[in-house]
Amino acid sequence: MQARYSHSGVFIALEGGEGAGKSTHAKLLEQWLSDLGHDVVLTREPGGTAVGAALRAILLDHETGTLAPLTEALVYAADRAEHVEALIRPALAQGSVVITDRYVDSTLAYQGAGRSLDAADLQQLAQIATGGLRPHLTVVLDIDPVDGLGRAGDHDRIEAEPLDFHERVREHFLALAGADPEHYLVVPATGDVDAIHATIRGAVAPLLPVGAP
Ligand code: TMP
Repeated sequence: MQARYSHSGVFIALEGGEGAGKSTHAKLLEQWLSDLGHDVVLTREPGGTAVGAALRAILLDHETGTLAPLTEALVYAADRAEHVEALIRPALAQGSVVITDRYVDSTLAYQGAGRSLDAADLQQLAQIATGGLRPHLTVVLDIDPVDGLGRAGDHDRIEAEPLDFHERVREHFLALAGADPEHYLVVPATGDVDAIHATIRGAVAPLLPVGAP
C-alpha cells in the first residue's frame, strides 16, 4: 500500500447518506480555500471524469434496471480508477487541494453494508482502483435517512432502495469514522449550514501547507 502522504497536495473526501448536504459543503469549502489562495479541484464520484459521467448514468439511471451487486461495485471501481489516475493524482502532484464528493467509503458503505458484498473483497478492489491513495481527511455528514431521503429530490436507483438499506449505509460510515478518528470528522448534518462549514474549516485548516500559498 502506498503511503497516505506520497503527494504534495491535500486530499479531502466528503461522505454521507442521501440529502446530507455534501455538495453544499464541498462548494463552501472550495470557496473558502480559493479565497485563501489555494488551487482547488472540486470533483465527485461517480462522474468526476468524462468517462465517469457515462458510468454515472449507467449506475444511477432507472433505465439501467437491475445490476448485479458485484457488477455495480466494479463499475464504481472503474469510475474511481479513472478518477484517481486522470484527475486526482495529477492535481495532488501539482499541490492542489482536491475535494471529492464521495470516494472509497461510499463503496464500503453502499455496496458493502447496503448490498452485502464482502468487505475484504471491496477493500481489495479499492486498493486496485486507487493504488492505495487515501484522503488526508474524510468528512462524514451524518443524517438520519428519513430526513435525508426527504431532502433528496427525485430518487435515483440507489436512493430508491428501502430505508433499512440506507440505515445500514449510515451505520457503516459511522463505523469507518469511529475506527480511524484521526482521519475522520463526523458532523451532524441537520445543524446550521454556517456552523457546519465552520466545523469543517476547523478540521481542514491544520492540513494546509504552512506558509502557503
Ligand atoms: P450523489 O453523489 O449525488 O450522492 O449520488 C451518488 C450515488 O451513488 C449515491 O446514492 C451513492 C452511490 N454510490 C455508491 O453506491 N457507491 C459508490 O462507491 C459511490 C461513489 C456512490
